[in-house]
Amino acid sequence: MSPAKTKRNRAGQFAVPGLKALLGGMSPKQFFAEYWHKKPLMIRNAVPHLEEVLDGAGLKALACREEAEGRLVRHVRDNWRVERGPFEPARLAALPKKDWSLLVSGVNLMVPEGDALLNAFNFVPYARLDDLMVSFAPPGGGVGPHFDAYDVFLIQGLGRRRWEISAQDDLELVDDCPLRILKRFRVDQSWKLEPGDMLYLPPQYAHNGVALTDCMTWSIGFRTPTAQEMATQFLVYLQDRIELDGVYADPDLGHSRHPGRIPDAMASRLKDMIRRIDWRDADMDDFLGRYLSEPKPHVFFDPPARPLGAAAFRHRLAARGVRLDARTLMLYRGRACFINGERVEAGRAAASTLRRLADHRALPPGDYDDEMAELLHDWYRDGYLAPA
Ligand code: SIN
Ligand code: CO
Repeated sequence: MSPAKTKRNRAGQFAVPGLKALLGGMSPKQFFAEYWHKKPLMIRNAVPHLEEVLDGAGLKALACREEAEGRLVRHVRDNWRVERGPFEPARLAALPKKDWSLLVSGVNLMVPEGDALLNAFNFVPYARLDDLMVSFAPPGGGVGPHFDAYDVFLIQGLGRRRWEISAQDDLELVDDCPLRILKRFRVDQSWKLEPGDMLYLPPQYAHNGVALTDCMTWSIGFRTPTAQEMATQFLVYLQDRIELDGVYADPDLGHSRHPGRIPDAMASRLKDMIRRIDWRDADMDDFLGRYLSEPKPHVFFDPPARPLGAAAFRHRLAARGVRLDARTLMLYRGRACFINGERVEAGRAAASTLRRLADHRALPPGDYDDEMAELLHDWYRDGYLAPA
């Protein structure tokens, strides 16, 4: 599958790298066998020219947007402070010359090149890709030694950063700190990253990035649901769908001498009711498709202000094809297809086109049948996709 295409920026230099360049000439097979979840990997010049897509001022502007998930981390006299966005421009203009870092998550939803870059990592399933976070730090800035629960690709945009990493098992954190900072950090390896360089780290790998100049890091993060999250969310799903009949009855009830006590017969009948809760593998598959394709709670779609009618849309579809909006999550499992938390009911022929749309996040120009054209038109009016 080819990576998503992106518009070139004004300087005309940034282009999403192909898979070969991204992995430094290594095949995905080799990467998964030797590095994924196993050991760090440094790839020089994997994603060049990101510094031309976004600079510090650009990131500050994003951090002031209503929908931005921003954090400002400051290291003041051995104390870590964290402020959460969206920020007032005056707040970001008043920052000192060093020792802070501004981090914005979900940049893939705000910058087209960011969306294209995130999707270039589609050698990992979309259901595992989380988001693109971009940080800016002046010299000395960083978020301290820490570890993440997920794998991460740290790409150097603007400037230079020293990354120190450690395979240590000691993951004890500093108490009463607004950031997850390691109590002890023993450096095993260190690299100076130049623009375009990329460092892959497995989950739980201790790391510390310190800006050597004005510096921007683009982090590709992955989704790692916890067992607790899966179980509680599945129970929420089940709660909305469960249908059990029957009402409690006790025709055999006798005189109660201890009315405060829950009678054994009553407890046993009620437990039998609960034991009738049942689910099948297909219910879990349906839940997974809906849950994993559900956009984050702060994500809203922008339906077109003056949408094309069905005939005009079909014309455009035939001439240009369609592309999924950056916010859309589309996944499938078997013949079942899911888009933004909804299950799509479609016939066998439509299912293969939908799988193609989910894999490529786009459909080429073509003469699609009535069912598909109608479905795509509905999603276009919801803001889920647009003519390419
Ligand atoms: C940063 O961009 O400063 C932090 C990225 C990370 O450590 O995951
Ligand atoms: Co990290």
